[in-house]
Amino acid sequence: MLRLTGVSKQFDNVVAVDNVSLEIPTGQMVGIIGRSGAGKSTLLRLVNRLVDPTAGSINFNGAEIATIKGRVLNQWRAKCAMVFQQFNLVPRLDVITNVLIGRMFYRSTLQAVFQLFTPEERTLAVMALQRLDMIKHGLQRADTLSGGQQQRVAIARALTQEPEILLADEPIASLDPRNATVVMGALRAINREDGITVICNLHTVDTARAYCDRIVGMVSGRIAFDGPPTALTGDVIRTVYGVDGEDEEFDINVTSTAIGIGSRGTAQ
Ligand SMILES: Nc1ncnc2c1ncn2[C@@H]1O[C@H](COP(=O)(O)OP(=O)(O)O)[C@@H](O)[C@H]1O
Ligand SMILES: [Mg+2]
Repeated sequence: MLRLTGVSKQFDNVVAVDNVSLEIPTGQMVGIIGRSGAGKSTLLRLVNRLVDPTAGSINFNGAEIATIKGRVLNQWRAKCAMVFQQFNLVPRLDVITNVLIGRMFYRSTLQAVFQLFTPEERTLAVMALQRLDMIKHGLQRADTLSGGQQQRVAIARALTQEPEILLADEPIASLDPRNATVVMGALRAINREDGITVICNLHTVDTARAYCDRIVGMVSGRIAFDGPPTALTGDVIRTVYGVDGEDEEFDINVTSTAIGIGSRGTAQ
């Protein structure tokens, strides 16, 4: 169980995350939606402590995360792997080395620099690549891959961390629909088959509905909706996206089943 209690993050005069309390049971797949600037990325970054909270408690299976430092913080970051919109691979390294970088959390700096990975770690990396159907590209440089392939490598790298939580910040925002389906399918499979908690920021409501057990809607750093996809009505969507019919930034087309957000409505 991941439990956030009264978590806030203030940057200068912006309150990015405002008194958020959230309990996420192990094995849940949670989609976080909300317009650009709502605090979705900051919320994920608070969980893996890329950002330090201004207030509140972050608790994982009874251990306090909000205040940990040094080696303990490093161990926590290994446990909650992160996948980003822009993949964050090392472009000039080959795929297998990029995946092995997931083990850096467990190595000393020297071991990592000289790529002294154990046979077990190499096996882990190969298995992750096989699972993402990327093994045939193992020796290819990361910058020669398509976006969809790069994101699959990034997910393989995350798996190689042997995480308990997988955080994904707009993982399909830069992908075409076909690759988006492959990547979301991979995240869902990891969640289902391995029981890994997945928390995923998504820029389309349809994707959140299709893949997530639970949807959390954020508005101005606060939770405005928290429930199953079936509870996400048109009214709730209008609240989360702040659509009043005069909002030109969002080209939102609400029907009973779907909402499409125009290109200018996609998150950064
Ligand atoms: N490092 C930062 N420094 C200052 N302000 C930030 C920083 N990161 C995020 N913010 C601000 O916090 C708010 C929430 O941002 P973010 O979490 O990126 O939202 P989202 O991911 O929903 O688009 C925005 O107003 C953003 O400008
Ligand atoms: Mg964001």
